[in-house]
Amino acid sequence: MTELTVPALSLVVLVGISGSGKSTFAQRNFAPSQVLSSDAFRAMVADDENDQSASAAAFDALHYVAGRRLAGGRLTVIDATNVQDHARAGLVALARAHDVLPVAIVLDLPEEECWARTERRPDRSFGRGVLGRQSRDLRRSIKRLSREGFRTVHVLHGLEEIEAATIRPQR
Ligand code: CTP
Ligand code: MG
Repeated sequence: MTELTVPALSLVVLVGISGSGKSTFAQRNFAPSQVLSSDAFRAMVADDENDQSASAAAFDALHYVAGRRLAGGRLTVIDATNVQDHARAGLVALARAHDVLPVAIVLDLPEEECWARTERRPDRSFGRGVLGRQSRDLRRSIKRLSREGFRTVHVLHGLEEIEAATIRPQR
């Protein structure tokens, strides 16, 4: 078991390609109400968690709710791929605006494994190329996280590290 220290009031940003296990990790380690997932917000604004054309509206709503939670002093977890710089920049800015520490937890699972999982999922239908692009973005992202303003960065490599990880809130 590996304990990941996370400030009791923080904005926890999960980072990982599709199929890396972000939603599973969030479900295992946090209360459902602490987790804001981009899929859930796409479904809320467009009735379809896979409707990528709804992403702008979905993230707008997600940021709004995250802001209200942080203003209330509530730890909040962002369950989205967050492999793009601009997505993370918006979240770091949001954390700063609420005087809360941004924390990154990276789930770095081999792309092949993520693809094998994705192919088995009835709720995902994107092509292989999408995952390749996300992987390239992820590699670049891992190097940048500290510089971007994440005060704590935890990188979990492979299934064993991901499954052994637990969260320790630090007061
Ligand atoms: N899964 C698995 N074993 C694990 C973790 C996840 O078999 N230890 C499976 C899940 O049941 C799911 C798939 O792998 O079918 C992807 O896991 P999920 O947590 O949904 O991954 P996400 O990173 O949330 O994927 P997405 O970005 O597409 O939401
Ligand atoms: Mg998910």
